[in-house]
Amino acid sequence: MTNHSAAAFDRDAGRIAVGGVPVDRLADRVGATPFFAYDRRLLTERVALLRATLPREVQLSYAVKANPMPAVVQHLAGLVDSFDVASALEMRTALDTPMPPHRVSFAGPGKTDAELRQAIAAGVTIEMESENEADRVAALGRQLRIRPRVAVRVNPDFAVKGSGMRLGGGPQQFGVDCERVPALLKELANADVEFLGFHVFAGSQNLRADSLCEAQRRTVDLAIRLAEESPLPVRYLNLGGGFGIPYTDRDTPLDLATIGANLADLVRGPIRQGLPEARVVIELGRYIVGECGVYVTRVVDRKISRGRTYLVVDGGLHHQLAASGNFGQAIRRNYPLAVAERIDAEPVETVTVVGCLCTPLDLLGDAVTLPRADVGDLIVLFQAGAYGLTASPTAFLSHPAPAEVLV
Ligand SMILES: Cc1ncc(COP(=O)(O)O)c(C=O)c1O
Repeated sequence: MTNHSAAAFDRDAGRIAVGGVPVDRLADRVGATPFFAYDRRLLTERVALLRATLPREVQLSYAVKANPMPAVVQHLAGLVDSFDVASALEMRTALDTPMPPHRVSFAGPGKTDAELRQAIAAGVTIEMESENEADRVAALGRQLRIRPRVAVRVNPDFAVKGSGMRLGGGPQQFGVDCERVPALLKELANADVEFLGFHVFAGSQNLRADSLCEAQRRTVDLAIRLAEESPLPVRYLNLGGGFGIPYTDRDTPLDLATIGANLADLVRGPIRQGLPEARVVIELGRYIVGECGVYVTRVVDRKISRGRTYLVVDGGLHHQLAASGNFGQAIRRNYPLAVAERIDAEPVETVTVVGCLCTPLDLLGDAVTLPRADVGDLIVLFQAGAYGLTASPTAFLSHPAPAEVLV
């Protein structure tokens, strides 16, 4: 199956290539299938596209949770302005790169005292998710005799339409409800913390530019209103992100140009007026890495059952849960996949591609038309650069963990 995601990768004599290396050769180099392969050139080009389309006043933060492979994070350290981390281990991965600690922000509910201590000692910005967390941060700062760098994650009074996942609006475990933020800001003004500003992250996997633009406008309005009530200057405004990528043939890629134009209006209009000191940040995970990676599997069985042809591969949902439709999809649709060594060949048969787990949930391609594939052939699954390995139940059925390579 040829598709937009396959088109981005190099080709070599009819074979798909990652980082210029044909996938069959890469499989020999890795030494085993299945594995994940991420394309360095595509990562670089993706960030360049964002830089070219978003206004230069907007800084780019990479959400490490989307793909925390250390080599990927190292590569992105030279390309983006900051990192967003969601755990102590992600923080360590980020701090191992040349990214300065003050350009690392730590968001997420349920941060433990141990994690907060590490974050304060490291000098990263803690995006506080509750009043209780704010109290603990201040107390730990006193104990450590370090002034914590903090921002307040705000739960807005609106939701973002069209997000695959909602993280803002209504009651939430994320952030402080915006109507309670002014009271918290008064407390912070008397606490020994370095207050930087606000973080609003209200949804992810959104393909509707109009919804994202509206959310950005409303977020800026909200931040300006809060800044007016703040005894402390606002020097940081993290507008979140939520830029989606097309996973199935029903999805239309995001209109990035419209978002860039909207952000330019915001930074050169209301933000310049109302938040003149604020460093403005967009925080993206999957949009940066999602389309730059593939999951490579090998056919171990080809069987016909009552007229249906099955290709059974050596990978499955334990490594790439999302492709099985069990990670946030309401209706299961196929992620793009291809026979790696016959990328340009005509499709000749309709097959069902399944993983090696003993569960009917392990379905990777339902009734897909492909060139002929036999035992030993490689099947690549696209859109595997984000929320792949680390968002999958790797221990389920106790198969070995796959390798990951950045090429
Ligand atoms: C706070 C925060 N930042 C960034 C992200 C990354 O989202 P995405 O990978 O969809 O860009 C998430 C995802 O849930 C998030 O919760």
